[in-house]
Amino acid sequence: MTSHEVAQSTRRDILQLGTAAVAAAGVAAVAWPFIDQMNPDAATIASGGPIELDLAPIAQGQIVRIFWRGKPIFVRHRTPDEIAAAEKVDVAALMDPQPDSARVKPGMAQWLVVYASCTHLGCIPLGHQGDWNGWFCPCHGSQYDTSGRVRKGPAPTNLPIPPYSFAGDAKLVVGVA
Ligand code: FES
Repeated sequence: MTSHEVAQSTRRDILQLGTAAVAAAGVAAVAWPFIDQMNPDAATIASGGPIELDLAPIAQGQIVRIFWRGKPIFVRHRTPDEIAAAEKVDVAALMDPQPDSARVKPGMAQWLVVYASCTHLGCIPLGHQGDWNGWFCPCHGSQYDTSGRVRKGPAPTNLPIPPYSFAGDAKLVVGVA
């Protein structure tokens, strides 16, 4: 895939998710500058180096999808209710036991960053769907909660977490833990 194709693919995906996740007026207005900011340059794509994402335009409750090293990644701005739902779970009862606190950065529980590939066979799950309002995989019915933890198979494990960090309160850096 050329760098141009990557940029085009990213552009389509973010627009698609932006309009699907938030049907409010103003999404388009914030989407375009946001897209321009997050498109990595050709050298960054070629090197597979870290990419930065401006978090400010991502509204609470919204999920966006970006690409890093050719793999899709969800960045979810969780609501207080979504965080509470993820935290109150009985971890011991989970298929792949992991507390929510182990899946987010300290003090930044509103941001969940996970690979957007179902751990069954790699389909891209649909956000804000399923019994746990996390993700639903349309391929074979796996479900994930608002922490990206698998709650219903056939997926065997939680959505993996890529290396990432924050630069201040409003910038995500994917590729640097
Ligand atoms: S690929 Fe998701 S359930 Fe099979």
